Amino acid sequence: MTRWDERFTGEAFLFGTEPNRWLARQAPRIVSGGRVLSLGEGEGRNAVWLAGQGFRVEAVDGSAVGLEKARRLADARGVSIGTTVMDLAAFRPAPEPFDAVVLVFLHLPPGLREAVHRAAEASLRPGGVAIVEGFTPAQLAFTSGGPKQPDMLYTAELLRGDFPGISWDVLEESRLELDEGPGHQGPASVVRGAGRRTP
Ligand SMILES: C[S@@+](CC[C@H](N)C(=O)[O-])C[C@H]1O[C@@H](n2cnc3c(N)ncnc32)[C@H](O)[C@@H]1O
Repeated sequence: MTRWDERFTGEAFLFGTEPNRWLARQAPRIVSGGRVLSLGEGEGRNAVWLAGQGFRVEAVDGSAVGLEKARRLADARGVSIGTTVMDLAAFRPAPEPFDAVVLVFLHLPPGLREAVHRAAEASLRPGGVAIVEGFTPAQLAFTSGGPKQPDMLYTAELLRGDFPGISWDVLEESRLELDEGPGHQGPASVVRGAGRRTP
């Protein structure tokens, strides 16, 4: 059982069942009915919402407990999602490219982080959309979630370097108020991006 399996065990959804607000705001960039890859999907709040918007979603996560809850949430909402339990250390770009990739609060250690971000970018077709949100180092001053290891936190500059093939329409660091289940509550410092893979 992974650390995330332990955190996801139980009926409650750690980050709620409503989609991440940044994702919901940026999703209209994705072509209607498009294929979306969500890495580090967790308990399914984002994948299930995307499926409800008519997208075909593949959710990948290392937590079998999280993805089991994601499948149950999808059933309860009358939608279907694909799920793959996988340590992202083994993730490679899919042969059939996606119309969008979504990485919401997927915090990885250096080395693995760059490799996964490169593979996520390479999973996109030219013109495909990347939607990303993570915590910045300033989040260490807050108690609203995120890793406590400084090298697992992200900045706009770091993301720009990790995704050299993405042309960002927006990539910004900001302070906001999180309200995402018991796991993400209160003031937070995040970096958020949305852009497209260059041809
Ligand atoms: C903070 S949670 C975010 C979940 C979801 N994106 C959300 O916002 O509700 C981080 C997720 O990343 C996953 N994760 C972290 N490291 C991973 C790895 N190396 N391989 C696969 N999944 C990983 C965890 O299992 C967890 O579900």
